[in-house]
Amino acid sequence: MSEKKLQHIAIIMDGNGRWAKERGLPHLKGHREGAEAVRRVVEMSKEYGIKYLTLYAFSTENWKRDKEEVDGLMDLLLEFLGTQLEVLQKNNVSLKAIGRLKELPEEVYEALMQVIEETAENTDGTLVFALNYGGRAEIVDAARKLSEDVKAGKIDSKSIDEAMFSRYLYAPEIPDPDLMIRTSGELRLSNFLLWELSYSELYVTDVYWPDFGKEDFSKAIDCYYRRDRRYGGRK
Ligand code: FPP
Repeated sequence: MSEKKLQHIAIIMDGNGRWAKERGLPHLKGHREGAEAVRRVVEMSKEYGIKYLTLYAFSTENWKRDKEEVDGLMDLLLEFLGTQLEVLQKNNVSLKAIGRLKELPEEVYEALMQVIEETAENTDGTLVFALNYGGRAEIVDAARKLSEDVKAGKIDSKSIDEAMFSRYLYAPEIPDPDLMIRTSGELRLSNFLLWELSYSELYVTDVYWPDFGKEDFSKAIDCYYRRDRRYGGRK
């Protein structure tokens, strides 16, 4: 089996801190430039006909950062949600979110739900924010929901298979990513989409996220089309 169509790109947006440090700027300035890169990548995805774009915006581990940085990231997110609604509507793109969303600050949660609701009917593309997201937490949350259904007698545990388990993940309607891009050179998954990335192609660039532009995006896409996806089988 060889399936090349690129419909879903997932991105670990790393390097905001290093970008800022190299310029003698505060870390938050790096995140602010990172938010600009988010705007660019949403537009580029639309141009390239990418149907789903999942961005790792805040992990379950990111709460460990100092309060100023966490608050700054939440403010940026709020600002982004406020200004991006119009852009999403204009481009017919819907917003979704994955993660333990109810643990986000109330203001952020409400703003998020509002944009999700208002863009729900848009059909040209889907932007997915991973927020307070952890890959292991997602699997644990799915296992909890599934076990409740087993306990309630809705499901026979013998009928649990991969397809059924997937339906308990945060966004079962979204196909697995075809390509995962990580910026700023680190070669790890950092608890991102552990289930969904099982067969995704990985692309790592040394470019810091705030510098990630059209040329980098197009290089990653070209690289994807040169790969040979075999899903463990032979050609
Ligand atoms: C990694 O940079 C990035 C994050 C922890 C969060 C991603 C946030 C943004 C791109 C900005 C805001 C997003 C939205 C959607 C408005 P880092 O600080 O870990 O970089 P470093 O490893 O170089 O320190």
